[in-house]
Amino acid sequence: MGSYGQLARRAVETDMPIMVQIQQLVRGAKNAVSLAQGVVHWQPPKEALDKVKELVWEPSISRYGADEGLPELREALVQKLHRENKLYKSSVMVTAGANQAFVNLALTLCDAGDSVVMFAPYYFNAYMSFQMTGVTNILVGPGHPKTLHPDADWLEKTLSETKPTPKLVTVVNPGNPSGTYIPDSLLKRISNLCRDAGSWLVVDNTYEYFMYDDLKHTCVEGNHIVNIFSFSKAYGMMGWRVGYIAYPSEVEGFGTQLLKVQDNIPICASIISQHLALYSLEMGPEWVIERVKGLVKNRDIVIEALSPLGDSAVKGGEGAIYLWAKLPDKYADDDKFVHWLAHRHGVVVIPGSACGCPGNVRISFGGLVEDDCKAAAERLRRGLEELIRDGLVE
Ligand SMILES: Cc1ncc(COP(=O)(O)O)c(C=O)c1O
Repeated sequence: MGSYGQLARRAVETDMPIMVQIQQLVRGAKNAVSLAQGVVHWQPPKEALDKVKELVWEPSISRYGADEGLPELREALVQKLHRENKLYKSSVMVTAGANQAFVNLALTLCDAGDSVVMFAPYYFNAYMSFQMTGVTNILVGPGHPKTLHPDADWLEKTLSETKPTPKLVTVVNPGNPSGTYIPDSLLKRISNLCRDAGSWLVVDNTYEYFMYDDLKHTCVEGNHIVNIFSFSKAYGMMGWRVGYIAYPSEVEGFGTQLLKVQDNIPICASIISQHLALYSLEMGPEWVIERVKGLVKNRDIVIEALSPLGDSAVKGGEGAIYLWAKLPDKYADDDKFVHWLAHRHGVVVIPGSACGCPGNVRISFGGLVEDDCKAAAERLRRGLEELIRDGLVE
């Protein structure tokens, strides 16, 4: 013992979590502000928090609950899936957030050695979930150079030419880190390609309510499709850890196999958190949409701050809470740029290399109220102006 070589390759060979590195960077840089972490600035609905306060002494709160989730929450979610997402043949498992939902699915749907498909720029945690579960043959497809939409022509070719056929394809809609949404027609095409090839399609809908400029989020349903959702951003419930999986009810054994994984990770999502999720859900999507509307200002403030990079360098922002920006070719070392920006200008963003796209950065505009966002954006703008003018001067 005592040797690094004794640690499991599944852990050692998995990427380091970028958010942990970024949190260290924020702590280490004097007075740095964060446009890095994917969070929102609001708390859960006050009415819901007040109701939960009453519950803490209830004995059931401190016991284990049903693995798949509180029956009343699952029922409410099935109704929500019908009403809002037009998903009529899906069963629900409540998880400790969407990230745990993804790990459950990687373990339930893939075997070590399988190949899977993601699109660049990809969501780093999904990539890591594959790596640590032994799914190391991760085929990363291109995004459209202008829109960053997943390239469906590449997918068609890859699904037909790769033997054995990739087990699973995953997309995030709207995207993290791209901030672009997947139009309904493209989502349907991706779904049809997966169905015809016999591959699973896992769609992460964490940002379903985070849509701007009158764009509309849609879901697809089928016996080859699994949808993931989260309470974290919509209801400001990041720390309460509640998400859910909507899996096809008609696929025999799906729920049973999922339960094996669930029973060995959280057993059940935190019971008090599930009650908060239920009360929050009762506030309706309007509660969330009202808050999301307020983020448009933040997005525009950050777009303006990115202007020194030139218009064509900035993408995304149609949905989710992210903008995606290309660094000038001369300064394409994104890790170096992120450290420089944090230490010299006091603002932190995410390096694109964490998402498979070096030379870019992800900027999050959800975590700060407008005035703080303005102040952070001002630092970003000054940093970019200096970069363009003088380079990475110390
Ligand atoms: C696309 C995506 N999926 C999942 C998650 C994790 O969400 P949760 O807090 O529900 O685990 C995030 C958080 O940033 C995300 O952006």
